[in-house]
Amino acid sequence: MNRATNSREVSLRERAKRVIPAGMYGHQSVARLPEGYPQFFERSEGCRLWDSDGNELIDYMCAYGPNLLGYHHPAVEAAAAAQQGKGDAMTGPSDVMVDYAERLVDTIGHADWAVFTKNGSDSTSACIQVARAHTGKHKILIAEGSYHGASFWSTPRPSGVPDDDRRHLVRFQYNNIESLEQAVAEVADDFSGILVTPYRHDAMVDNAAVDVAFAHRCRELADRHDAVLIVDDVRAGFRMARDCSWAGIGVEPDLSAWGKVLANGYPISAHLGNERVRPAAESMFITGSYWFAAVPMAAGLAVLNVMDEVDVVAHVEGLGTQLRDGLAEQANRHGFDLHQTGPVQMPQILFADDPERKTGDAWCLECLKRGIYLHPWHNMFLSLAHTEADIAQTLDVTDAAFASIRR
Ligand SMILES: Cc1ncc(COP(=O)(O)O)c(C=O)c1O
Repeated sequence: MNRATNSREVSLRERAKRVIPAGMYGHQSVARLPEGYPQFFERSEGCRLWDSDGNELIDYMCAYGPNLLGYHHPAVEAAAAAQQGKGDAMTGPSDVMVDYAERLVDTIGHADWAVFTKNGSDSTSACIQVARAHTGKHKILIAEGSYHGASFWSTPRPSGVPDDDRRHLVRFQYNNIESLEQAVAEVADDFSGILVTPYRHDAMVDNAAVDVAFAHRCRELADRHDAVLIVDDVRAGFRMARDCSWAGIGVEPDLSAWGKVLANGYPISAHLGNERVRPAAESMFITGSYWFAAVPMAAGLAVLNVMDEVDVVAHVEGLGTQLRDGLAEQANRHGFDLHQTGPVQMPQILFADDPERKTGDAWCLECLKRGIYLHPWHNMFLSLAHTEADIAQTLDVTDAAFASIRR
């Protein structure tokens, strides 16, 4: 426990308060993390972060997902640097755009075409626009509590957003076929699409694998009403499968939304669609000044190349199992009822009977003081850069943290 005193952090926060609303905004604000969590970082490498006071941390957030292969993965950095030398944002797209679209279409089973954007919110928004253009209808069904980005229609805190912008969203309970059917009945003949995450990865609550029958029902209901099925793979993509995350259960969406992992941290997102919805995609005018930039596309190609050579999903699954098993044994030994949910490679860790998350916060803070960055209420992420030794080091720390909060 030898964290440096937070001298730079304190001064950065004071300066930020003057020039950045609330000192920081959005999901990377530490306002809802335990006091003591660093807001600012100066460096990253592999699975490690260094905060602005130079403290080294093993990072289990992976930039909230993008870090799939390790920060500064050499193959990705080399591809990005080579493309940077040739051109990035130009008057027209680079040939690398066609290469990348072809590779994604070859990789993702349901996809016949790709449109590139910048953030996950762009891709989920574009998906519902395609669904509406395809059907000529309005209503989009989404699960209660699910997060699909911070666009007008989806932001969880709709300050400044007219109610009208969200009027066409209808909620169902994730994994609950009856509530899904009710939602479909409610929208009647204005049913445009179902937008659904590949598993329930809501913040602050136990996560849940998708019920296979529920996923199939999503497909059947969309088909029966000529509506569009959209899988939001922005968060879970490429950690569950080297394909759309529902490929393994035999459910193919019409559209999938991607972001985060695609280029290991380089800014790019995408929505991928099948032939059925291609005319709708062709009917739309959507664009962005940076959507055609070539460097992130080159980086994205490099990610796919690495995934061809290394089984990234098996790696993160193996390490996630090591972490989950170790934590379960420790929690049991120290007398804590730990809820470990979600896929092992994207662990959600909550304590039972901890509605205000006091125990969870205290445990995570004890881990942070010892060099492990965990999140007390959001699912975490493993990367190809984490090793068995990192997990073992983490488990030494979590053991000490359990002992400390037990005292
Ligand atoms: C499931 C899901 N969809 C969409 C988004 C929005 O992505 P972005 O923050 O890149 O706009 C997120 C971001 O966390 C997400 O988890």
